[in-house]
Amino acid sequence: MKANPIELHTTTNGNTKPLINSKHFILPIITLALLITIHLYIGNFSELRFISQGQSALNSTDDHKCNVFQGTWVFDDERETYYTNETKCVIDDRQNCMKYGRPDTDFMKWRWQPNECDLPEFDAVEFLEIVRGKTLGFIGDSVGRNQMQSLVCMLASEAYPIAMYPNDTRLGQWIFPTYNFTLIAIWSPLLVKTRDPSPDNFTRNSIMNLYLDEADDVWTSQLQNLDIVIFSSGQWFFRPFVYYEKGEIIGCRFCNQENITDVSVYYAYQMAYKTTFTTLLNLHNYTGLAYLRTFSPQHFENGEYNNGGNCVRTRPFTSQEMRLDGYKLQMYLTQVNEFKAAKKEGENKGLKLRLLDTSDAMILRPDGHPNHYGHPASDNKSFPDCVHWCMPGPVDTWNEFLLEMLKMEGDGFIDKTPQRNITRLNLR
Ligand SMILES: *[C@@H]1O[C@H](CO)[C@@H](O)[C@H](O)[C@H]1NC(C)=O
Ligand SMILES: *[C@@H]1O[C@H](CO)[C@@H](O)[C@H](O)[C@H]1NC(C)=O
Ligand SMILES: *[C@@H]1O[C@H](CO)[C@@H](O)[C@H](O)[C@H]1NC(C)=O
Ligand SMILES: *[C@@H]1O[C@H](CO)[C@@H](O)[C@H](O)[C@H]1NC(C)=O
Ligand SMILES: *[C@@H]1O[C@H](CO)[C@@H](O)[C@H](O)[C@H]1NC(C)=O
Ligand SMILES: *[C@@H]1O[C@H](CO)[C@@H](O)[C@H](O)[C@H]1NC(C)=O
Ligand SMILES: *[C@@H]1O[C@H](CO)[C@@H](O)[C@H](O)[C@H]1NC(C)=O
Ligand SMILES: *[C@@H]1O[C@H](CO)[C@@H](O)[C@H](O)[C@H]1NC(C)=O
Ligand SMILES: *[C@@H]1O[C@H](CO)[C@@H](O)[C@H](O)[C@H]1NC(C)=O
Repeated sequence: MKANPIELHTTTNGNTKPLINSKHFILPIITLALLITIHLYIGNFSELRFISQGQSALNSTDDHKCNVFQGTWVFDDERETYYTNETKCVIDDRQNCMKYGRPDTDFMKWRWQPNECDLPEFDAVEFLEIVRGKTLGFIGDSVGRNQMQSLVCMLASEAYPIAMYPNDTRLGQWIFPTYNFTLIAIWSPLLVKTRDPSPDNFTRNSIMNLYLDEADDVWTSQLQNLDIVIFSSGQWFFRPFVYYEKGEIIGCRFCNQENITDVSVYYAYQMAYKTTFTTLLNLHNYTGLAYLRTFSPQHFENGEYNNGGNCVRTRPFTSQEMRLDGYKLQMYLTQVNEFKAAKKEGENKGLKLRLLDTSDAMILRPDGHPNHYGHPASDNKSFPDCVHWCMPGPVDTWNEFLLEMLKMEGDGFIDKTPQRNITRLNLR
């Protein structure tokens, strides 16, 4: 019942064959630390282009015929970060690369250049005006929280954020009183319901029960309070599970029980999104704005997280050097296919579903992770982190994308202001 790291390593990509075409890239392994605290991933070029063109999210006005998610990273020596480690916001220590002495700084100076248009710099006032009086929820894992914290810091230059639970980084809730804007991170790393049969013995290899057809009520119970939601998930799906549908076991992953069939990670990932979208559409008749932020790729090289693997590069790849492929592409396509199906259905029902299609850009950023700079140098027990993103860093670009997409919604994009009843969330 304990999948050891080697087993995890060799099978992380489900049943597909070679993962990453390239030379020394190693299959992603999740450390316990990473699994408990963090996450990510993404996909291939021709297919990406095809999919992206299939989305209508980005061409709702004539000015925006271009797909902002297709482009390259351009070095800009003049570029200033939107915040620093001195800004009055919270940078989680594990992503506070400058605090822990990361020596190179070029990774903060690349800006995303879409192929056919420009991605404007982030304008905090413009963002805050758009979201005035609204509540935005990030629903997912620690990579989703990484984006939320980046957004709080990007807005902190213009408005003073108040942390509702300052002493607990897991309870991410921020208010910008001047704009009556609330940001919440809702911890639901698998989006669907889980039960840990032995919570006190939780390890990266313990088996969790995952109910693929039941949405996690940690987020469904809050939906009525949220005008905008951003869903994301990824790395947690690679751990051991027993899968359930209609309350019955339908299979498992790394459970080592002979009478239970192995089910692929892609199936579980697909079902989790199907359930999420179905819940929005049919159970809650959700009419807010819902984003899927696509798979965020990790970049371990030279080994696994626990045997010397790391991410030491100091500059981005070009799209000739790297692209989404292998399991990252599979995960990406799996979620995007469910998104497309739901988007079609949602159009008739008033659900505004949008794709925050960051995967393509982020596969090019092996230089954007904390690596060893997510903890003090004296702490030689912590593993390198090639999953989360340094702050400041390329994760800030996700919020540049978000603002562009919000602008395209035009005025009055939210029909109905939901009834507000934010209670203390049950997060772990
Ligand atoms: C966006 O462009 C696609 C392809 O050109 C088109 O099919 C779709 O209707 C457009 N969507 C909107 C909202 O204009
Ligand atoms: C902020 O980062 C600088 C390096 O850029 C470092 O010298 C300093 O100690 C950091 N300060 C804090 C409060 O983390
Ligand atoms: C804040 O926004 C909510 C929801 O739009 C609204 O009900 C409330 O009155 C606003 N509060 C203030 C002080 O404007
Ligand atoms: C947070 O911790 C500080 C220092 O321990 C304490 O003074 C403060 O009251 C705490 N705040 C809350 C909201 O618990
Ligand atoms: C979990 O831990 C508890 C207390 O440490 C122990 O009594 C129990 O046997 C453990 N369960 C499993 C399944 O290992
Ligand atoms: C599988 O076998 C174990 C041990 O015999 C048993 O406890 C369990 O209920 C079985 N599971 C299923 C789904 O049949
Ligand atoms: C959602 O809409 C359907 C069809 O209009 C309706 O039957 C159902 O009661 C609604 N659900 C909620 C939670 O409002
Ligand atoms: C880790 O640090 C401790 C004390 O700081 C030291 O004794 C130990 O040798 C170090 N281990 C490694 C693998 O560097
Ligand atoms: C808010 O939600 C809590 C928990 O669901 C409930 O107990 C309380 O009555 C609600 N308050 C209002 C004003 O609806």
